[in-house]
Amino acid sequence: MKEKIEIIQGDITKLAVDAIVNAANNTLLGGGGVDGAIHRAAGPKLVAECATLLGCKTGDAKITAGYRLPAKHVIHTVGPVWHGGGKGEPELLRSAYRRCFQVARENSLTSIAFPAISAGVYGYPMAQAGEIALHEAKAALESYPEFERVIFVLFNEGALRIYQETFKKIFS
Ligand code: AR6
Repeated sequence: MKEKIEIIQGDITKLAVDAIVNAANNTLLGGGGVDGAIHRAAGPKLVAECATLLGCKTGDAKITAGYRLPAKHVIHTVGPVWHGGGKGEPELLRSAYRRCFQVARENSLTSIAFPAISAGVYGYPMAQAGEIALHEAKAALESYPEFERVIFVLFNEGALRIYQETFKKIFS
């Protein structure tokens, strides 16, 4: 099961998978960070489709086509803003990951790539965010054997190391 999880450093917009996950905001109309990079790479049809979705609640996820991206689809999710951890942030981040897996499954997608949701502008500590991400991947792979690949794409080496350490802790 753990062989289905890959942890890599790179740019998520380059991946040819069934779906890449976007760490979006409640409007789904674009922003900075990975959201900006995905919209730039996908082209203007992406924001046009997003506008029809009427936003997304924190902890929920919605799917669109991938347009000019090598990925077939984008699953847009909204993670929580970090306010110190006592405002329901862990539950909301878990919910964001679970909803992404559910939406992938509903659309019969078998390969999915995630950025570190909430761990940029939204300020979620990387180690705690990575722990939730990897726990939820493990749970999804245990429940749904149809998933073939779950890829975590980290933008820098520090984040990559943190995820690698967490992976060892969870799977050893
Ligand atoms: N590929 C992979 N990871 C990336 C890329 C990329 N191309 N670009 C950035 N990252 P963030 P959030 C990493 O801030 O914290 C937007 O404005 C980045 O280094 O993109 O959920 C939205 O519209 C970090 O580790 O997302 C929202 O308003 C991780 O992706 C808000 O930011 C997530 O950082 C969402 O904030």
